[in-house]
Amino acid sequence: MESARKALALYVHIPFCKAKCTYCDFYSIVGRESSIPDFVKMTLVEIEHRVQYLDLSQHYIDTVFFGGGTPNLLAPAALEQILNALLHICPSGDNLEIGMEINPGEADLADLKAYRALGINRISIGMQSFQTHLLKFMSRIHDSERSIATYEDVRRAGFDNVSADLIFAVPGQTRDHWESDLQRLAQLAPEHISTYSLTVEEGTALKRWVDAGHVEMLEETLDTGMYAWGRDFLESAGYPNYEISNHAKPGYECRHNLNYWTGVEYLGFGPAAHSYFNDRRHWNVRDLDRFNVMVETGGLGEEAFEIIDEHLAKNEMILTRLRLAHGLDLTAYANRFGENLVSLKADVLKKWSDQILVKNERLTINRQGWSLIDEISADLMFIP
Ligand SMILES: C[S@@+](CC[C@H](N)C(=O)[O-])C[C@H]1O[C@@H](n2cnc3c(N)ncnc32)[C@H](O)[C@@H]1O
Ligand code: SF4
Repeated sequence: MESARKALALYVHIPFCKAKCTYCDFYSIVGRESSIPDFVKMTLVEIEHRVQYLDLSQHYIDTVFFGGGTPNLLAPAALEQILNALLHICPSGDNLEIGMEINPGEADLADLKAYRALGINRISIGMQSFQTHLLKFMSRIHDSERSIATYEDVRRAGFDNVSADLIFAVPGQTRDHWESDLQRLAQLAPEHISTYSLTVEEGTALKRWVDAGHVEMLEETLDTGMYAWGRDFLESAGYPNYEISNHAKPGYECRHNLNYWTGVEYLGFGPAAHSYFNDRRHWNVRDLDRFNVMVETGGLGEEAFEIIDEHLAKNEMILTRLRLAHGLDLTAYANRFGENLVSLKADVLKKWSDQILVKNERLTINRQGWSLIDEISADLMFIP
């Protein structure tokens, strides 16, 4: 199956949360659980409408991901309906990864067993921190005991591919807090660990607090120091860093995210979901009610689209691959775009010669460059 066809990644955005976290700008709505049945119905209709416009005869489903928002707010039977519809759009690969995000304390053992029975084989738990005051600052509604209990239930339910997210550089967090969080998580021994530096996003409570001067973000040197320590610690604990924020025991890298970062086509369903297919990217409306009306009246829930021309494709390849430990495959770049990036960007390579390594037809960012990745990528990209 796989040899003759192209991989496809599928995403479903579940836009419901029990509470809004102070830092989060992902599309999610609170107190709207009564709308879940309509959301499920309309997402099924969207899948049906969308596949009528797509030629999937050359694809196979490689990965499926339920993200959010909070996917565990959907009962197993609701996820089953969506999953069944997705798995009918084209054949699946032999090694299908089906992942799902859950929030600590929000899925009981029976639910987790039911999710596992559906074929979901990877769980990502949003732990964020083990420190009570930091969880409170972030408006998380769980505590560290709940995170650990949920992790244990996930194992009991039979999941052998488990990830956990932690956030660092949170106001009020010291280097000791961060080191203790990572040590505690490594002791639990999930297969995969994501570590995100807290970013201030437009429209969030955190942004308002920072703008009003009520909260001060950590100094950049503290942030980069925490990152560097975390990366070294996780590597020595058996979790090499395969992407700037992602660490995994070898063989447990998140294949769904790797699909995004390596140019595999993806289809996203539900409000605010993004898709990239046939050199076209589109994103759905960030509003559940508008999404429902659009789909119900025969539409696709699309807000807008852009065509990925060669210029955009080059920049995206540079931006995504540089974040990977594997780096940018210069032969693949030359084969696709008919040009030699190293000679075209000789001046940039000279400027960043202490940070960029070109070896064995790969361009990678070394240790000194980790914290400068945005500046380096911007220099390597092409201005229209
Ligand atoms: C949008 S959440 C969805 C998963 C789940 N609802 C949760 O809260 O864990 C996915 C991950 O994005 C990360 N995240 C979201 N906003 C962030 C921000 N402003 N800065 C850093 N990490 C962020 C969190 O670590 C979170 O686990
Ligand atoms: S971080 Fe997760 S739980 Fe918090 S608002 Fe965002 S999606 Fe919801």
